Order: sequence, then C-alpha cells, then structure tokens
Amino acid sequence: MTRTSVSAAEQAQRHALAHARSAHVPARAAHAPYRSFPWAGESFPLGRPGGPESPGRYGGRGKASPGGERVDLDRLLRLSLAVPVGTTGRRRPVPSAGALHPVRVHLLLGAGCSPPPGRYVYDPHAHRVHRRGPAPADAQPGAIAVLTVTAGNTVTHYGHRAWPLLLLDAGHAAAALVLAAEGTDPTVCLDADGATLSAAAGLPRAGDWKTLWPGTEPEQPLAAVRFTLRETGHSDDPLSAWTSLPLAGAPVPRPGTEVVPPVALAETRYLLEILGAGEQTGATWHTARRPAPVTDSVLRERRSADPADLTRPPPEDPLARILTTAVAAWPGGPPWSAAVGGPAPALLTLAAPYPSRPTSAVRPAPALRVLATGEARPTLAHWAAGQRWIAEAGAVLLAHGCPSDAPAARVGPDHLAAGYAAGMAHAHAAAAGLPSRPIGSWQQADLGAALGETPERDWIVHGLALGGPPAPTSPSREEERP
Ligand SMILES: Cc1cc2nc3c(=O)[nH]c(=O)nc-3n(C[C@H](O)[C@H](O)[C@H](O)COP(=O)(O)O)c2cc1C
Repeated sequence: MTRTSVSAAEQAQRHALAHARSAHVPARAAHAPYRSFPWAGESFPLGRPGGPESPGRYGGRGKASPGGERVDLDRLLRLSLAVPVGTTGRRRPVPSAGALHPVRVHLLLGAGCSPPPGRYVYDPHAHRVHRRGPAPADAQPGAIAVLTVTAGNTVTHYGHRAWPLLLLDAGHAAAALVLAAEGTDPTVCLDADGATLSAAAGLPRAGDWKTLWPGTEPEQPLAAVRFTLRETGHSDDPLSAWTSLPLAGAPVPRPGTEVVPPVALAETRYLLEILGAGEQTGATWHTARRPAPVTDSVLRERRSADPADLTRPPPEDPLARILTTAVAAWPGGPPWSAAVGGPAPALLTLAAPYPSRPTSAVRPAPALRVLATGEARPTLAHWAAGQRWIAEAGAVLLAHGCPSDAPAARVGPDHLAAGYAAGMAHAHAAAAGLPSRPIGSWQQADLGAALGETPERDWIVHGLALGGPPAPTSPSREEERP
C-alpha cells in the first residue's frame, strides 16, 4: 500500500467505527432466504477414526502421524460448529449474532486427521468436508482451521452495524473450536494478515474474488486455530508451508449472486479487507485451553438464555470466576468489567487485573473491586440498541477499550479477542449452571466518558448478560402426595 492509500484506508476505517457506534439506525431488511452450501467436490464424512462412519469406507483414510496420534475432527466440529441433525441451523453449539452463522471453516490437514492430507472446507449442515486441493509436501501433522466470514446475511440484517458483529462471531467460533479441542494442543491466531490467511486457505483476496470466481460469494478470512498433535510440538509459522500453493478449488457459481453488491455490503467487505491488512508484523499464536469446569455435555447443551431467565443476580463467587475466565482468555485483549444491580449497584472489575491462568474450581475465587458505584444497567440497555431486558439482567459483563483512533492492527484483533473471551465466559457460565446471553450491538457506548475519563478512549465492544441459578422449582402437586 502507498502512503496515500494507507491514509484513505484509515479514514474509511475511522468512519466505519464511528458509524457503527453512532445512533444511526440501519433500515430493516427482509430476512435473507437460506442458500445451500456453495462448496462441492469430493466429500468425506467425519466419522470417528475406526468408527462406523470411518472415511476409510469412502475414499481412503489419511495417514496417521508418525507417532500414531490423530486429530478427531468428528468430535471437534460436532461439538463446535455442526448443525444438529434435523434442525434448521439457527441453533448450533456456537452462538451467533441474530443466529445468522456467517463463519465458515477451511481446514488445512496434515497427517493424523481422518481425511487424507489436503485443503478442505467444512459443511456444517452435512457434517462433511469437501476436498479443495492437495497439501504441501512439508505440511506438519495435525490441522489448521482458517475462519472466514460471508458478510451478506449479517449486512442484510444489521446494515452498517454488521462488521463488528462479524468479527465478534469469528471470535466466538475460534473459542468454540478451542472448547471442543480436548486431546489436541490448540493455538489461536487473531492477528494474521488477511493476505496470508487467504493464500494459506487457497482463496482469492476479497478485491480479486469477483474477477477470479464470478457468481460466488466472497469469504474473508479473519482468524485461525491450529490443532497440534502433542508428539509434534508447535511451529512458530504453521501457515507458511501452505501459502506457497496455488489457489485451491472454487465454490459452485450461482446465478443471482449479486453482481454489484449493495453499498453497505461493499463497505463492509472493504472494511474487513482494511482490518485484515494489519501491520504484517507476523502472526502470533496463543496457546489456549478450555476453562476447567467446561465438559463436552456443556458444549452440546449450551444456549443463549431467554432474557426472562437472566434477571436473578449471579452469586459473587461464580461471577468472579467467570469474569476471570473472560479477562484471562486473551492476554492483551480488551479489559472486562461487570455491571451489577441489587442493593449496592456498581461496576466491578478484578482486583488483580491479569490473572496468569483461568480459574480452577478448587482455588478461592479471585477478589473483585469496585470501579464505580451506581446503577449502569439502564444506560447499558439504551446503548445496546435499546434492548430493554438488559436493564433487568442480574449482571452484565463488558469488554471495553478500542479507542476511536485505534489503528486497523488493533480494531480487528480487539473485536476478535472480545468475541473469543465472551465465548469462553459463556461456556464457563453454562458449566456453572448460570444462564448467560451475548450482547453484540453497542451504540454511543463510551464507557470511559460515562465514568468521567477522557472521551473516545474506552468504548464497549461486547457484552455478556449473566443471571443467577434458576429458582428451585416448587414440588408439583403430584410429588406432594404421599
Ligand atoms: C456476537 C454475538 C452478538 C449477540 N448479540 C445479541 C444481542 O445483542 N441481543 C441478544 O438478545 N442476543 C444476542 N446474541 C445471541 C444470539 O441471538 C444467539 O446466539 C442466537 O440467537 C442463537 O441462539 P443460541 O446462542 O441459543 O444458539 C449474540 C450472539 C453473538 C455470538
């Protein structure tokens, strides 16, 4: 990029940030109709290795790693992104703004996965992968998931407010993969530049997509998660072996895919492209693990709670532990606080701001300290697109930061990290038996200014409403009878 185009990009980015945070309400559009999965090609079911649906029956199982270990993609994707059998796809293990699920996953598989090494794309409805091309000769054992988004449906629904939600959704999807990755050593990358991620996944950049693959919907890569076999160890630069390959297979063109996208969609794609340009200082991979209380059955049963079930205040001990999970999830990500009501309404934060690791159930809960006194929840409800139920929520966890003049290299990773941390905290809450619900749209939510600090420095980026445990159900008449 030249100096002039950098400043034009910066201007576009600041405008988009200010617009998404403004009171300007997007026009309501009709719900986009469901469109079938556009990727085709040789497909592999993700049966458990050796299990009844073993891909060995369908086209050759991939080589095991030298030590015989495998990444269980069936379990990993079933517990994170798969559409449960017999459902429409709005409810999956991972939550999504408006239940629109814009995140797609491209898999770069080395030895040790059930399909043979190569580039694949995951179809969450069929729970199968489609092969898009070969792997490089020096591909390391294990799997890399490159997370892309298709912006169309989210922009149709949320207009200029869509782009932060797309980033938050991608962060939640990265968290969902880590939560389901027991048995591998997952590492997560939220700051790889888009060009590297596209090249690794064998996809064109958004700007070239329409020319190279006309009649298909662009996908923009935002993050990556790597599943390393314990015997292999980590490499600092796992994507580079894949970036030297040419483009892999394309999706099937569909008549009617917009030739000229609506303005809000073109702006969103351009913005994600700018945010993905980053500073190209090299990607950082963060070792991740799921919070101790989370189990596979928690992931299977997780739901965003009904607002009516969020009104009881959470007890202080689990509140402190869940807040710690959010804070510890992504070092260097936005800080987290919690607004609580009750007799002493306040904004709370952790007494020690950066816990070295997520909480364990056996250690004492971390201490909380009061950041500000007073009732914040009605203001939060107003800031969150006027969602009135938030004023009654037991507690509202808040990720905040990302100043108005933040560079592109920070805006993208801050939103991804906030979604990632909220995903971890949401799963921890479910494991603790507490209802919770993410909150993604924030307007004029200048928390710093509201606390009397310099305006424009400390904006709410994401939220998680958290309630107390369900009230014990009174015994039914039937049970009362002797
Ligand atoms: C990034 C993100 C933002 C969200 N924002 C809101 C919100 O502002 N208000 C709300 O009621 N639900 C919100 N949700 C929850 C979704 O509506 C919910 O995940 C979706 O309806 C699917 O339901 P499930 O989570 O039970 O699978 C959000 C979820 C995510 C991941």
